[in-house]
Amino acid sequence: MNKWNTRIFSVAFLAFSINMSLYSQNKSIYKDKTRSESERVSDLISKMTLAEKIGQMNQLNFDQINKDLEEKIKKGEIGSLLNVTNAEEVNQLQQVALQQSRLGIPLIIGRDVIHGLHTIFPIPLGQAASFDDELVKNAAHIAAVESREKGINWTFAPMLDISRDARWGRIAESLGEDPYLAGRLGAAMVRGFQGNKLSDATSIAACLKHFAGYGAAEGGRDYNSTNIPIHLLRNVYLEPFRKSVEAGAATVMTSFNDNDGIPASGNSFLLKQVLRKEWNFDGFVVSDWASMSEMISHGFAADRKEVASLSANAGLDMEMVSQTYIQNLEQLVKEGKVPVQAIDELVKNILRIKIRMGLFENPFAPTGPGKTYSQAHLNAAREAAVKSAVLLKNNNQLLPLDARKKIAVIGPMADAPHDQMGTWVFDGQKEYTVTPLKALQTEYKHINYVYEPALAFSRDKNKANFEKAVNTAKQADVVVVFLGEESILSGEAHSLSNINLIGVQSDLLAALKAANKPVVLVTMAGRPLTIERDLPNADAVLYNFHPGTMGGPAIWDLLFGKANPSGKLPVTFVREVGQIPMYYNHNNTGRPGPKNPMKLDDIPLEAKQSSLGNSSFYLDSGRDPLFPFGYGLSYSSFEYKDLKLSATKIKPGEKMKVSATLTNTGKYEGTEIAQLYVRDMVGSIARPVKELKGYQKISLKPGETKLVTFELSSDDLAFYGLDLVKKAESGMFNVWVGGSSDSGLKGSFSLEQ
Ligand code: NOJ
Repeated sequence: MNKWNTRIFSVAFLAFSINMSLYSQNKSIYKDKTRSESERVSDLISKMTLAEKIGQMNQLNFDQINKDLEEKIKKGEIGSLLNVTNAEEVNQLQQVALQQSRLGIPLIIGRDVIHGLHTIFPIPLGQAASFDDELVKNAAHIAAVESREKGINWTFAPMLDISRDARWGRIAESLGEDPYLAGRLGAAMVRGFQGNKLSDATSIAACLKHFAGYGAAEGGRDYNSTNIPIHLLRNVYLEPFRKSVEAGAATVMTSFNDNDGIPASGNSFLLKQVLRKEWNFDGFVVSDWASMSEMISHGFAADRKEVASLSANAGLDMEMVSQTYIQNLEQLVKEGKVPVQAIDELVKNILRIKIRMGLFENPFAPTGPGKTYSQAHLNAAREAAVKSAVLLKNNNQLLPLDARKKIAVIGPMADAPHDQMGTWVFDGQKEYTVTPLKALQTEYKHINYVYEPALAFSRDKNKANFEKAVNTAKQADVVVVFLGEESILSGEAHSLSNINLIGVQSDLLAALKAANKPVVLVTMAGRPLTIERDLPNADAVLYNFHPGTMGGPAIWDLLFGKANPSGKLPVTFVREVGQIPMYYNHNNTGRPGPKNPMKLDDIPLEAKQSSLGNSSFYLDSGRDPLFPFGYGLSYSSFEYKDLKLSATKIKPGEKMKVSATLTNTGKYEGTEIAQLYVRDMVGSIARPVKELKGYQKISLKPGETKLVTFELSSDDLAFYGLDLVKKAESGMFNVWVGGSSDSGLKGSFSLEQ
């Protein structure tokens, strides 16, 4: 830059700066992004009428009112809308909020973007099987990118409800049964949705749900009451929420259930004590859909006015759909039943997040071409589906298949573009789904195959085509059978009391035996099904939780060995539904059952009352699950050796290293998910037999060995004991490093004060 240019530039810059400062003097503090978040929040709240404040606490569904929606926004009666998905519509409504309401407060636009918006990733339970924080983060980021293109800036995810019950339809939406895994992956999802900064053009706000305990619905029936005692609540159910709050989640949703009689939307212990006081959460809390007004059905509030009073006093910031706040809060303030200071605090939480999200500067959906369904998004969805599949059985190394063999493709899930996407899909278009059949017609064209669905859909009971299916199987070298569940059979309000393969699918699998060909069972389901009775009819089993848009090619990638299965189960697979709840991190009981308990048919007639051993097991299904948490095979095999602990004693505040060598002893390159478990041998309350404390994904070439090292600190051993203070207690600990929750090299150490 020469001298003159520099002068001109300096003068222009000075003029610009003067202009800007005049501008910011005129502009209200809350609209000035150079001011601090708290200054902006205080300024705005000081300018608001009580009615405007209450308006911010009101969230409506887009079609709830069609006539005077814009009028209500103008009057400041709506803080948030859910389910507006058309970018132009969003822009129009934001325009009204910004320019025609008195204070110009933008709307926050929410939607259930649970495992992708358009490009659909495996259901969360599937993603959890990948044990892959980066993958989960990236899937959430892609969902955020596609959402922002539609003007959606807030998702109701991740769902962090621990579920130990496969009957519960929403287990599909969960990150499994383990608090450590769900916490790590939940935090990864939050980071993926929210990006580096909430105000980035590709970030959306996350919402941790359902706070709290919802996954423990009695009997696995959705919305049912829960009875989670305080230690279990603290040590298991709240843990993933704590970690995800720590990751910076902007919002939290209360749950539908009452725990021990107290519905979550009126639970000040959860909202005030735990969330705000202990975890310093500074985002806002939204109710679930009408979960506030449903406190009347619960028998916890007499009428809608009492609902509003209970929730506001419990610390619930925004009401989804049921409108008891907007109808009653003003009166409740007048009557002194809800202090105006309390309302201010609730509203400030909402405003803080709107400011943090940059909505005052730009709440609009971008125009121009977007990245929805881009090749990069589809590739990521395919990779996620590959890494989310779990190989449960592979007799005689049937898999990977030889691509020169003739394949019989059978079963209703081989070409189910809608159902393959799974639950909670509003925007994914089935035209984009690549089913296994479609993948054979396009990318895997060189494969010689014959196809017979045999059943039109998973519940179809018509066996008329079974014979055709057997004949088709006879023409091939190997049979690949695609069975599972339609997407409608899992998810919200879709609980089942029988979780066998639905309809006559097991009969189809059994019938195919007559073809006398090797059989591969490939599932696509929303939950761990009880498949013990099906295992004898399949030589190999590749278990996919609904794998999403790119499930088809991902499955062939695995079956033909282009990729090697690496997923591990994020939930226990029970043998029979009657074993539920069964989970790996249970307490031991005073009478743990034997490894091989007596079988029902072996019990002698008139056996003596106590001759079976009086211990804890089922006479008909034993003590153990079908497949434990953390289990999953590979085409390779992995060997753990040489467990080493860097110390045999640690003190509070200290760390130790736990390591082992891991060798790929098989023929294929593969990835193993090495897991670290701990057992606290004696506690002030009984402790679980094992608890996951770490995992790592290790890729190894055939014959290759790597050292796997975990760091374990005394903080990792902390829990809420008898006195309900979180701390590690002195004593002995067992530690395992291995490839599943029921195996591993074992060592021990002590914690000494
Ligand atoms: C009810 C569900 O429980 C919740 O998870 C969801 O986010 C809301 N409906 C909004 O659709």
